[in-house]
Amino acid sequence: MPKTVLITGANGEIGHGLIEALSTRPDVRIVALDLRPLEESLAHRCHATVVGDVTDSELLARLASEHSIDTVFHLAALLSSRSERQPLLAHRVNVDGTLNLLELAISECRTEAKDVVFVYPSSIAVYGLPDLETKDSAAAVDEDSYVEPTTMYGVNKRYCEMLGGYYADHYRQLDAEPSRGHLDFRCIRFPGLISAATIPSGGTSDFGAEMLHAAAKDEPYACFVRADTRIPFMAMPDAIKALLLLEAAPKARLTRQVYNIAAFNPSADEIRRLTLDAFPNAIVTYAPDLRRQGIVDAWPADVDDSAARRDWGFAPDYDLLRAFGEYLVPALGRR
Ligand code: SER
Repeated sequence: MPKTVLITGANGEIGHGLIEALSTRPDVRIVALDLRPLEESLAHRCHATVVGDVTDSELLARLASEHSIDTVFHLAALLSSRSERQPLLAHRVNVDGTLNLLELAISECRTEAKDVVFVYPSSIAVYGLPDLETKDSAAAVDEDSYVEPTTMYGVNKRYCEMLGGYYADHYRQLDAEPSRGHLDFRCIRFPGLISAATIPSGGTSDFGAEMLHAAAKDEPYACFVRADTRIPFMAMPDAIKALLLLEAAPKARLTRQVYNIAAFNPSADEIRRLTLDAFPNAIVTYAPDLRRQGIVDAWPADVDDSAARRDWGFAPDYDLLRAFGEYLVPALGRR
């Protein structure tokens, strides 16, 4: 039997790449859920597509009754800048939506007596470094340090990391009979992601992708953070690879539920220079927005991903130069 994989937020940046990768596997049936109808190029790759909201628990119950779900990639979320503008909506989507998906997954485990893998993308937004001096001296931050988020999105993500741990390890711990199936919660804290195919919306790491996409379209770009701003980034193919690797990793190898992954961590100006090398006529200026700057200043300049490398063999294919030279610039040039 092929396994059924539910992807929420399927129309989003990660959803695109994940559907492309998973749809090449004959042993996988994709059920895609998104607020908007799935793009035609993706829809024909899926076993079923559902238009709807992760906050709609009746819709999710219907979906669970129609499909026997083995794996969940719960990608739907409001990103960090948008969440600051609409904190209540962010909480509803990012927290209540995740709770609904965890409930769907655990009820699959319990009614069908099987294990369901639940893959959850968290973020560098769960970190909160108190000031730039600490950020400069902290080096690569491990999973357990500086976990003091300063944004609604970061708080939502941190709480849902813990909620996933609860559903995996302690759900209904007072029940007389232990559940026959288990929820296997696995989480990656992503850096800022840069895709050649899509532009992010509503994030605070968006300046990297926005700069490059604007240059490719011959549009001027005013970067909303300072030139010396440094946070971790990753090319989208490595993010997809990481999700698939973690999902497939033998449970016995995993020593944690939440893993950092890292690839490169350029300053905004290093991104600007590589953008200008590729698109010499581009006009990129700086117009820092102090409030959004404050958010990225609280995110680490680098993260320690040694646990992911050790436990499930993560290693990015793209460093900064390869990401630009062999993925982003050629793909944007073709478009
Ligand atoms: N890319 C996200 C954001 O900027 C952070 O993970 O909100």
